[in-house]
Amino acid sequence: MATLVTGGAGYIGSHTVVALHGAGRDVVILDDFSNASRRAVDAIRSLARSDLPVEEGDAGDSQVLDAVFGRHRIDSVVHFAARKSVAESVADPLGYYRSNLGSVISLAAAAIDRGVPRLVFSSSATVYGSASAPPVTEESPTVPESPYGETKLMGERILADAAAASEMSVISLRYFNPVGAHPSGLIGEDPSGEPANLVPRIMQVAAGRRERLDVYGADYSTVDGTAVRDYVHVMDLAEGHVAALDADIAPAHSRTYNLGTGSGTTVLQILAAASEVLGTPIPHEMAERRPGDIEASWADCTRALDELGWQARRDLAQMLTDHWNFVRQQSSC
Ligand code: WQD
Repeated sequence: MATLVTGGAGYIGSHTVVALHGAGRDVVILDDFSNASRRAVDAIRSLARSDLPVEEGDAGDSQVLDAVFGRHRIDSVVHFAARKSVAESVADPLGYYRSNLGSVISLAAAAIDRGVPRLVFSSSATVYGSASAPPVTEESPTVPESPYGETKLMGERILADAAAASEMSVISLRYFNPVGAHPSGLIGEDPSGEPANLVPRIMQVAAGRRERLDVYGADYSTVDGTAVRDYVHVMDLAEGHVAALDADIAPAHSRTYNLGTGSGTTVLQILAAASEVLGTPIPHEMAERRPGDIEASWADCTRALDELGWQARRDLAQMLTDHWNFVRQQSSC
């Protein structure tokens, strides 16, 4: 029996595939490669030392899913495949609702039709918006501030309702800010197109592919005026998915978990840590706040520790070291 990982060639998906294989699970990857490179598949197979099966297609296409479930014996699903740009979702809300919710509905229907007992859903801390002062728990108010965030919250609710009417159980994982890469440097964050996220841009500056980093806002009510986030190593996130698949959740039930470190770091603190790890200053300038940004966000991860036995183990230096190692190896390719 195998775990179907949709979006399994993507950033968090590829690391989760490697972690699942390392935990002794067979895996089938389904990806349309709209935001992932085929290089990732070669790297995953090299790390797993196995010719893992890869299906190319849209996780929202019922015919694709029929074919995939017909060719493989699937006993669990991890669903990553989704569009995930906040800014893009504001420009194209209907495209985001159609794509992200369409794939949730089609995949849940296919899994339930075939009696799959467990589905793990890739959600996001973006569901909290700025409604609650951090640290946020899973019971904190959820007030998304973008169509992307709405698709994650609606996805959780659709899956919870689907589970309640079936024998399937669903776990939704709300990630905070994923950073880092597999220590081998063979897989990492390799988005198609220009990155919008902080750490990939810092790495572009360090690699000489960006002149400087613009710090979006220096007038927040934080320790140094710059915004605070909960940065968490992608390998810790991957291990969180292994724990979620093994979790003791009864059929027809669903549960959400925060996956973060439980501590917040400012933009300037990230820049200082990156300079330390990379051994060079990171040119940067203060700039206006970015529309839509919130001042501070970090997790309370008590539930994941108590119920899944999971907690983040890798620190900021490890995140940045592993991220830079991946970027350097990509540049030398
Ligand atoms: C972090 C901080 C920026 C770039 C996003 C999505 C979220 C999740 C993770 C999917 C902020 C500042 C950034 C720059 C900067 N993705 N920054 N200069 O916005 O917290 O979360 O990615 O689930 O849904 O919203 O991450 O890395 O873009 O920003 O100063 O050039 O870095 O203002 O304070 P964010 P980020």
